[in-house]
Amino acid sequence: MTERLTPTSAHMQRAADLLANGALVAFPTETVYGLGADARNGRAVAEIYAAKGRPSFNPLIVHVPSSEAAQSYGVWSETAQRFADAFWPGPLSMVLPLRRDAGLSELVTAGLESVAIRVPAGDLAQELLQRFNGPVAAPSANPSGRISPTTAAHVLAGLDGKIGAVLDGGACSVGLESSIIGLTGEPTLLRAGGVPREAIEEVLGASLRMAVEGEITAPGQIASHYAPNARVRLNAIAWEVGEKTLGFGPMACDLNLSETGDLVEAAANLFGHLHRLDAMDGIGIAVAPIPRLGLGAAINDRLQRAAAPR
Ligand code: TXA
Ligand code: MG
Repeated sequence: MTERLTPTSAHMQRAADLLANGALVAFPTETVYGLGADARNGRAVAEIYAAKGRPSFNPLIVHVPSSEAAQSYGVWSETAQRFADAFWPGPLSMVLPLRRDAGLSELVTAGLESVAIRVPAGDLAQELLQRFNGPVAAPSANPSGRISPTTAAHVLAGLDGKIGAVLDGGACSVGLESSIIGLTGEPTLLRAGGVPREAIEEVLGASLRMAVEGEITAPGQIASHYAPNARVRLNAIAWEVGEKTLGFGPMACDLNLSETGDLVEAAANLFGHLHRLDAMDGIGIAVAPIPRLGLGAAINDRLQRAAAPR
């Protein structure tokens, strides 16, 4: 059952409590409705991918109430401060180097060393973030491949029964996703959106580098971002001597994605377990078969990239 929440004080608190308990809450921002989860909770973030039916783990935008809060997750710079002063709260996301002590689930950043952060301007988004008092990972609240939602009815049409609640704040004022600017190197426009390029360039005092096609939607598709140092062998039904082993379901292995065979738990554990196995210094990593149902598609997609020849 998906709860319908309205902007009363009691319902706003309910929405914040649901987030704190690891549930998914769709909420309005000035751009589109986001599907929010506690960005520190790997299981909750994995549920986002399951509810959307996303076939791969693309990195998500972390929503925070203020630029002070943003500085806990991304490495701050003079340029970041300038954009924050000019455009936050508002429809601009900044991709910053990930702080080592950020404490975010690796599914939020999809294993990258950068993080996309946004301070949304919508009143309800602001109030929810303040009440929750933590980072909220939120892609658009639509099933994968469908049109982004700008009303609560759109959200329910795609996700009713699959998420904890939707907070109904009426129609979004911008109706188009945020502009995304990459600040891990030369400032780069990664996605056109709610803040026009010209406005960003005026604040920058220079022209923006434009991302090439593919760099925009698919930072998570770059094989090397997922590749451990060790050779990765998939669908292993027996372990070889010297291999480190990643299991799924009840079995003896070095690390298990989910002893109970729960794909949501497995997704939450995936990147962390790969990092840990890689650090164990075996001759390679052998991975047990993982079903391709539900989140299993995205898990297999990422494992295939990790195993791809390079
Ligand atoms: O307006 C918006 O931005 C909405 C609302 C809910 O805030 N959110 C949204 O999220 O559009 P989503 O998941 O549909 O788009 C996130 C985009 C993806 O294209 C993703 O590749 C990019 O942000 N992204 C996230 N983290 C990144 C990173 N570390 N480096 C490069 N791109 C990143
Ligand atoms: Mg989207």
